[in-house]
Amino acid sequence: MCGIIGYIGEKNCVPILINGLKRLEYRGYDSAGISIINNGNTCIVKNKGKVSALEEKVSLMKLNAVLGIGHTRWATHGIPNEINAHPHSNEDNTLFLIHNGIIENYQTIKKGLKQIGYSFRSETDSEVLVMLIDSFLKKNYPLTKAVQLALSEVEGTYGIAVIYKDEPDKIVVARKGSPLVVGLGENENFIASDVSAILAHTKQIVYLDDGELAVITKNGFLVKTILDIEIEKEVHEISMSLDEIDKGGYSHFMLKEIMEQTESVTNSMRGRLLLEDGDAKLGGLANVIDKLVNSNRIIISACGTSWHAGLVGEYMFEQYARIQTEVEYASEFRYRNPIITNEDTVILISQSGETADTLAALREAKSRGALVLGICNVVGSTIARESNAGVYIHAGSEIGVASTKAFTSQLIVLALITLLIARKKSLSAAEGKELVEAMQELPDKISHILKLNDTIEQLAEEFKDSKNFLYLGRGYNFPAALEGALKLKEISYIHAEGYPAAEMKHGPIALIDEKMPVVFIATKDSTYEKVISNIEEVRARGGRIIAIASENDEEIDTLVDYSIKIPDTVEMLRPVLTSIPLQLLAYHIAVKKGLNVDQPRNLAKSVTVE
Ligand code: G6P
Repeated sequence: MCGIIGYIGEKNCVPILINGLKRLEYRGYDSAGISIINNGNTCIVKNKGKVSALEEKVSLMKLNAVLGIGHTRWATHGIPNEINAHPHSNEDNTLFLIHNGIIENYQTIKKGLKQIGYSFRSETDSEVLVMLIDSFLKKNYPLTKAVQLALSEVEGTYGIAVIYKDEPDKIVVARKGSPLVVGLGENENFIASDVSAILAHTKQIVYLDDGELAVITKNGFLVKTILDIEIEKEVHEISMSLDEIDKGGYSHFMLKEIMEQTESVTNSMRGRLLLEDGDAKLGGLANVIDKLVNSNRIIISACGTSWHAGLVGEYMFEQYARIQTEVEYASEFRYRNPIITNEDTVILISQSGETADTLAALREAKSRGALVLGICNVVGSTIARESNAGVYIHAGSEIGVASTKAFTSQLIVLALITLLIARKKSLSAAEGKELVEAMQELPDKISHILKLNDTIEQLAEEFKDSKNFLYLGRGYNFPAALEGALKLKEISYIHAEGYPAAEMKHGPIALIDEKMPVVFIATKDSTYEKVISNIEEVRARGGRIIAIASENDEEIDTLVDYSIKIPDTVEMLRPVLTSIPLQLLAYHIAVKKGLNVDQPRNLAKSVTVE
């Protein structure tokens, strides 16, 4: 979703802004722009479409400035076009603003501003904010105060950065609901909506919290509340490297991230498995473990792929930890006045740690006294910071919009938590040891599956023109089927649905004909025979069947059109393996259709609006 970058210092900020915007492209956007201030001159350049087009435009202008802000916009209010793109400016082009989030009361503010003579160029809610700040500047308030006064009238969410020609020594930023970081350098400082935009320049990061405003100058920064109370902030040294956010020779981030799963899954387990004790060790849960083990109920809340991981978690927790578990879409949970007590544990799963609905669910659960745990990938993200405790998945940066390695690492962390609770309850050391051994074997098995890449690519050629797909699985593999379908629709724009295999009879079976590919996850587990019956039902109706099957299963080849054979593991860990061929299938179909795999249309990596 929208991206923010800003620079103040001694260098020409234009390449810094453009390169920063390129680093933010993965978030999803439809237009981009920058504005700069230099020696009393100002300039604003925007366009619909890619940052590369903005770069071309800017390079012809030979711009040079030591202060500037840049933005990638993901349209909410008003279509993607040059006028609606950010930065927005006041009438005389002296004040510039970029904004992530949604100003909910913008119509009311706009009406008031129109009455005092303001007119508007764009259809956006963001332009209203720049004019509102301008109205306070016109009353002779200094920039910081004008921003504070404007924000005190605003309802909604924002991450903003503002620069002003008459105060060219600063960038003013503020945050409520949309992430913002300050990056510290030598005689230069940066602001960004996520660290990847400024990682090439600094690893010294200050995370802003909701309700905070910061004034950034060339040599320092000052953080206050919107109500003007000064706040001490910690400076974090981040360990992420630039390599992590490069494609590393792959044609797409998504393929790189799929191929990295041997390593990312290993990293998620590293130092956390105790083979001899058949147990897990999770430092992040040490202080809350008793409360977690004695929870009455676990509620997992998340969105998208993370929600699918949560569904697998439900199966794990109920089977092994014997704690009643529910999984809720965060967007529903937050608005339905959920019944939560202080005997419940609410687990939020979020790759980015910034998803607006998941964050709201966290706050809702916290306010009702539940123990709140975060399972996040991005270190220092808001959900990670606001949780009572949590576990990082350590999958490394995930840039491709369609989540892949974060999903398998989320499953690993859920398995580790399951083991930790189960061992404190009824799971014996010997049973625990079996699970630990199975987890330790996963990286080799993943390597084996990744070698099927070429075979899966050929299969993609066969199915790339299909208009619909059905994905079916049972038990632990039901969420894997949902995830397989989601991957395909996200990047190939082919309509795909995931279903529990037996539920097919209650509706989707009506869709089956010789044009309908049906992907069955049919590994040899406790529901295998039942899934075979479902395969027969599809076969009888002429559907084309692809099976993800166990490597020793030869029989299945007599029933299906194509099979992808993968190694077995314990049932609980199956989705870690079965989801990988489905990621590859979706990837290759999208590539063969000539689509932009890493930045699919309309989608955003981190959804920071409701
Ligand atoms: C967006 C992304 C998905 C992701 C979902 C939840 O829709 O495109 O890939 O699964 O948000 O994101 P989170 O960062 O909370 O896991």
